[in-house]
Amino acid sequence: MKLVNIGCGQTLHPDWINLDLVPSSPAVRSFDIRRGLPFAERTCDVCYSSHVLEHLQPAQASFLITETFRVLKPGGILRIVVPDLEQIARLYLASLEQSLSGDSQAIAQLDWMRLELLDQMTRTQAGGEMGKYLDRLNDQNPDLDKAFVRSRMGAEIDNYYQAKKLTRWQKIQSKQPTWYLQKIRVKIAELFVLLIAGKQAQEGFQEGLFRNSGELHRWMYDRFSLQQLLSQTGFIKIQVCQATESRIPNFNHFELDTLQGQIRKPDSLFMEAVKP
Ligand SMILES: C[S@@+](CC[C@H](N)C(=O)[O-])C[C@H]1O[C@@H](n2cnc3c(N)ncnc32)[C@H](O)[C@@H]1O
Repeated sequence: MKLVNIGCGQTLHPDWINLDLVPSSPAVRSFDIRRGLPFAERTCDVCYSSHVLEHLQPAQASFLITETFRVLKPGGILRIVVPDLEQIARLYLASLEQSLSGDSQAIAQLDWMRLELLDQMTRTQAGGEMGKYLDRLNDQNPDLDKAFVRSRMGAEIDNYYQAKKLTRWQKIQSKQPTWYLQKIRVKIAELFVLLIAGKQAQEGFQEGLFRNSGELHRWMYDRFSLQQLLSQTGFIKIQVCQATESRIPNFNHFELDTLQGQIRKPDSLFMEAVKP
C-alpha cells in the first residue's frame, strides 16, 4: 500500500510517505504541496491530510485536491481533516449568547473561540495570541476554562506543553542543516531590505515570510463546502466520519487521528472520499 501523509508536521508513521514544507525529522520529505504532489498518476492507495488544507489559499487547496485525485489509484481513499468551521461558529455564538448574561465560564469560552476564529488567521508571529493564552492556562489561571480548551484541542495540548519543555539543544538538533542555511539567507536579505527601504519595509518583509511559513490559516471549511470541493473534483462516496472511523485499512493503528485512544484534534471535521 502506498500511503501518503500530506503536511504531516510531527504526526507521522514510518509506513507512510510523509511530506511537509518544514520537515520535523529526517523521516519527512521536504516538499511544498503548493507545487502539487511528487507522484505519478494513479500510483497511491491513500492520501491523508490533517489540518493542512486551511493553511492554503482556496485556489491552492483546490489544486491540491485535484492532485490527490490524479495520484490516487481508482478505488483509492482520500481522508481530509480540517478545523470544523460550523462547530467553531456554533460554539462562538452559543458562548456569546451566554456571555451577555455575565456567565464567567461562557466568557472564558468565548475568549478561546475568538482565538480559534481570528488569531489562527491574523497572527503575525509563531504561536500568536493562542500561544500566549496556552502559556497562561498552564499557570493555573482560575479565570480560564482549562477543561474547555482541552475538549477543543484534545491530545494536541499535551504535545504543545511537551514541545515547550524541549531544551535549546534539543530544539537545535531537531532542525536540519538546510533550515539553518535558509535562516542565514533570510537574515542577509532582511538586512538589505532594512538598508534600502527602511524599518517598515523590513517589518513587512518579516511578516510576509511568516504568512508564507505554513502556520497561518488562510481559509476554513464546513461539511458542506468540503463535500462540494471533493465532489467537484470527481470524488465519490463522500462521508463525514468520526476520528476513529475510516475506510483506510487499520487506520487507528497508525495513530494519526488518535493518540493512545484519545482523539488528537477533536475540533475537527473528518471527511473521506473515494476516487471512482
Ligand atoms: C497545523 S500543522 C498540521 C500537522 C499535522 N498534519 C497534524 O495534523 O498535526 C500544518 C502543517 O502543514 C504544513 N504545511 C503548510 N503549508 C505547507 C505547504 N505549502 N507544503 C507542505 N506542507 C505545508 C506545515 O509545515 C505544518 O506542518
